[in-house]
Amino acid sequence: MNAAKPLLIFDSGIGGLSVLAPIRELLPTAPIVYVADSAGYPYGTKSPAEIEARVPALLGRLAERFDPELIVIACNTASTIALDGVRAALDLPIVGTVPAIKPAAALSQTRAIGVLGTEATVRQPYVDRLAAQFASDCTVVRHGSAELVDLAEAKLRGTPADRAAFARILDALYARPGGDRIDTIVLACTHFPLVEEELGRASSKPVRFVDGKEGIARRTAWLTRDHVWPESAPEGRAVFTGRTTDVEPYRTGLARFGLTRVETL
Ligand code: DGL
Repeated sequence: MNAAKPLLIFDSGIGGLSVLAPIRELLPTAPIVYVADSAGYPYGTKSPAEIEARVPALLGRLAERFDPELIVIACNTASTIALDGVRAALDLPIVGTVPAIKPAAALSQTRAIGVLGTEATVRQPYVDRLAAQFASDCTVVRHGSAELVDLAEAKLRGTPADRAAFARILDALYARPGGDRIDTIVLACTHFPLVEEELGRASSKPVRFVDGKEGIARRTAWLTRDHVWPESAPEGRAVFTGRTTDVEPYRTGLARFGLTRVETL
């Protein structure tokens, strides 16, 4: 067993940091390689065929390069579309990200749930199956927003949040059929918990936000329960697939998540 083998946490951008935080709490000394596929960002406006072609191939290259103990696909879009392809291509544990419809259904009093994700995620049959399985007595109202993904990226770069933009996105969800009754919103994109406070402040009515990040962290800890991690945490690495110049604005934000070594692929 090699204690230095890292956890590889993968997203199109910085959304996976919302998943990294609870993983760090459970596995404080695990070596972390955080990969943002900035060259492929955003995923939410891509076709399933593009995601299916891109993600397994890229993760294959990343697995060869970083030899991880486990990969977390900290991205709903990639998971709902390409998880099976990644698992078929790689011989190591892969944890995916599933929209938290089940816990949301358990919490909703009004039996109306919002699913806020990327345009690609909210269209997925995978979401239909989750809704049928876990929320069959609820109205499940979906809304995809690429703008909200960009707002989360901007926040990590230190750009002040525009309250009206968050309000507009929520109002578009509430305006859909059944949306007026929503009391619980699934944050079905890993970028969105990073702007949960802004969403809460901008909402025109009280709602509860639910996401799956704690469950992903528990699953990661469980799957690596026999692994012996180093005594102290090595420097966290953030790896971007895109241009070096685009990475600079993220440095301070990444450091707040313990990722002080920043590089491009
Ligand atoms: N963070 C990703 C997700 O969970 C997608 C963001 C994007 O690239 O559109 O779906």
